[in-house]
Amino acid sequence: MGGGKAVIAPSAALGDVVIEAIGIGKTFPGTRALDGVNLTVRAGRLMALLGENGAGKSTLMNILAGVFPPDEGTIQMDGQSVRFANPQRALAAGIGIVFQELSLIPYLSVAENLFLGREPRSASGLIDTRRLLAESTAALQRVDLAVDPTTLVADLRIGQQQLVEIARAISAHVRVLILDEPTSSLSGHEVEVLYGVIRELKRRGVALVYITHKFEELAAVCDDVTILRDGRVVGTALFRDLTRDAMVRLMAGRDTTELYQKVAFTPGEEILRTRGLSLTGSGVGRRFLVDQVSLSLRRGEVVGVFGLVGAGRTELLEALFGLHPDRVTGELVVEGRAVRFESPADAIAAGIALAPEDRKRDGLVLPMSVAANASLASLDRALRAGFVSERRESSYVGPYIDRFRIKIASLNQRVVDLSGGNQQKVILAKWLATAPKILLLDEPTRGIDVNAKREIYAFIDELARAGLGLIVVSSELPEVLALSDRVLVLREGRVTAEFARADATPERVLHAALPDSSRVAS
Ligand SMILES: Nc1ncnc2c1ncn2[C@@H]1O[C@H](COP(=O)(O)OP(=O)(O)OP(=O)(O)O)[C@@H](O)[C@H]1O
Ligand SMILES: [Mg+2]
Repeated sequence: MGGGKAVIAPSAALGDVVIEAIGIGKTFPGTRALDGVNLTVRAGRLMALLGENGAGKSTLMNILAGVFPPDEGTIQMDGQSVRFANPQRALAAGIGIVFQELSLIPYLSVAENLFLGREPRSASGLIDTRRLLAESTAALQRVDLAVDPTTLVADLRIGQQQLVEIARAISAHVRVLILDEPTSSLSGHEVEVLYGVIRELKRRGVALVYITHKFEELAAVCDDVTILRDGRVVGTALFRDLTRDAMVRLMAGRDTTELYQKVAFTPGEEILRTRGLSLTGSGVGRRFLVDQVSLSLRRGEVVGVFGLVGAGRTELLEALFGLHPDRVTGELVVEGRAVRFESPADAIAAGIALAPEDRKRDGLVLPMSVAANASLASLDRALRAGFVSERRESSYVGPYIDRFRIKIASLNQRVVDLSGGNQQKVILAKWLATAPKILLLDEPTRGIDVNAKREIYAFIDELARAGLGLIVVSSELPEVLALSDRVLVLREGRVTAEFARADATPERVLHAALPDSSRVAS
């Protein structure tokens, strides 16, 4: 290794190179995903990999972690060429990855997922269940996750699943850890725990690669930065030598437009109203997930809903969208008429659309084409003489594909092959193609790059000006404040505060979202 050499290169002060990608190229049908990419990752340091949606970040990491081989180039570990047939082999060699899209098996337990393929075994070769559970408990403790290891993964929240993935990677004593947008579903506390884990791994000399679209995370953990654009490295530097503007400019390859400026809102008539809307939980525990919510939405208005994880944000949107009809009570009035939705089909017929949070579970049919996914919710528009016309399908969704600059090779490309951020954009296109009057958006910019985010904000604004009413749920406070004409704050299923745009300061909104016990006396 480098540290043992007699002559120490200047860069040796930065730590030994653990893993290096040299001249990596990868072509998918219709897409040159990577072209001559070099990446050097050193012991005890964290390399952030930045780039717009579709830049090639996940592809490069998948190659490092043995998901698929590169077309050109080599991977070196400790100066030796390596090639892994699959992620299990890479893990055995000390390279762990937490994938952008969750990869746990829902109907296995947490413990089984943690040690899949490397279960502790007794002398007779059988799985040693007692050790499996003990080691699982220890692994979960490291990420501060208080769940029973025998729980089925399907019963965990997405954020908890993400923590299980992280626990799985670090329990394997990896020397290289790749984290592909690890915080996209984590709560504030969970993010802090992850930072703690990262600092501990750095102290132990682990080399880390970290992909994120959230710049504020970099200051907490980042040492080095590599920026990809259209499959090529356009910059690599020490984090402290780069400004945020420089990074954004490199990512985009152009001067980016000034910050998003919301257009002043002119409210129209009321389009949606609830009185005492409640949703009862299905299991044990808290009785109401949504508790006596009364709200009003006007045409042309964007109502932002803020709350901490578990506050009932997603559940509120689901109740409005006709999901769980047997557990919903209270009044719902759409365009002046009292309604009761027995299913989402009723809600869609009334002009409501919901773009959900968990794109893999509810939003998209991954093996189907972009065009088919995007028109799924508006099939009647694409139907002609009883069958789906592909030409019509494309004509409805095509404009949105352009509008959001969704990076696809063709409309017939399978969604599963799109980058994560581009999948998110397809979800938006799908629901906009239904031409709704009321649009419910749950975390609409999760996994979306900075520049595309601004485009989506501007588009939300444009939809509002065209007369739609929008309810936007987001866990990013700056996003809620930027987008909303009015902000509702939820805590434990209840509305604890409502602010007009001008009064919605970060302090006030956060204060209303926090549980009583953690409030600062004022
Ligand atoms: N299996 C595949 N088949 C075809 N094209 C693919 C496949 N995987 C990735 N691509 C394409 O390669 C390009 C790079 O994708 P990649 O997932 O690496 O982007 P990314 O930088 O991770 O983006 P994001 O920030 O949205 O996650 C994209 O254009 C994507 O559509
Ligand atoms: Mg990605």
